[in-house]
Amino acid sequence: MSQFGTEFCDHIAIARFADGAWSAPVIEPLRPLPMHPAAHVFHYASTCFEGFKAYRWKDGRGHIFRLRDHVARMQKSAASLRLPIPDADLLAGMVEDLVAHQRKDIPEPPSSLYLRPTLIGTLPNIGAAAAPSTEAMLFVLASPVGDYFAGGKATLKLLVDDKRARTTEQLGSTKTGGNYAAALGPTLEAKAEFGVDQVLFCPGGDVQETGAANFLLISDDEIITKPLDTSFLHGMTRASILTLGRELGYTINERNFTVTELLDWVSTYEATLSGTAACLSPVGALVYNGKEIPVRDGAPGPNTARLQKALQDIQFGVVEDTHGWLTTVG
Ligand SMILES: Cc1ncc(COP(=O)(O)O)c(C=O)c1O
Repeated sequence: MSQFGTEFCDHIAIARFADGAWSAPVIEPLRPLPMHPAAHVFHYASTCFEGFKAYRWKDGRGHIFRLRDHVARMQKSAASLRLPIPDADLLAGMVEDLVAHQRKDIPEPPSSLYLRPTLIGTLPNIGAAAAPSTEAMLFVLASPVGDYFAGGKATLKLLVDDKRARTTEQLGSTKTGGNYAAALGPTLEAKAEFGVDQVLFCPGGDVQETGAANFLLISDDEIITKPLDTSFLHGMTRASILTLGRELGYTINERNFTVTELLDWVSTYEATLSGTAACLSPVGALVYNGKEIPVRDGAPGPNTARLQKALQDIQFGVVEDTHGWLTTVG
């Protein structure tokens, strides 16, 4: 399968907001969208998106992971950007209709159909820097994606940056393009300078997250991760792993922790990134102040693998979904 995010289904779902109301959503062939060059999004970055997956089960049907929770997160993002907030039923319905329409394109696990609802401000007004976009477009793209790790590395190396933040505090938990733009420069610099895969942003020593994933520490009986606040994205994978971890008997320790504590703990704790794209991605080493610090023995840990399997067994339909996390389509 081609590189993650570069292959698309041939239709999208789309709805527009104007004069205070959403249009009825339609499924259309995928094609370039004509846009006014003055559209608010081009100038003032009024955009937010979501990312989650539908899985094909042996029953041949599509099963969308935590659809309603992702819709709620998108509504929160839209509200923080003062964009028109899509009704939950409207957006969830667009996703379900598109997945049903493209059912034939959902690959077998561990591959999946990645879904990317996107909301943009389309008001043609380059004088609206301090005014919201009262017109908007909402569309859902679908992209068949393979196993993130196929042919990939077993563990990741992270630069621990104790100065720079990934983004601003008021947009930290908003899934908006500007946050990724802000993280891009530091991440590319770190890759070039230190040969790392990602930056772990820890402004003022507060361990937050990487450019596109949450960060967890795991031992045989405990999971440590930052508690929810406005500084980082509230990942659905993080929430799901914490729920499953609790059920498996791990103590869930949602607490703030410092770089000093982190460097101390990685001699015994497993470290992992968590996110929709790769589920859990084990971290093998940290780079701090020019020095490389291994995470345990540098190899992927058993607890990370155990928790990843617990989540994927639900997603792939191997075990029963007792949490009501999956929406069946088709
Ligand atoms: C900045 C950031 N943090 C965390 C996550 C993980 O979120 P989720 O588990 O909902 O995919 C993502 C994933 O898209 C992200 O972009």
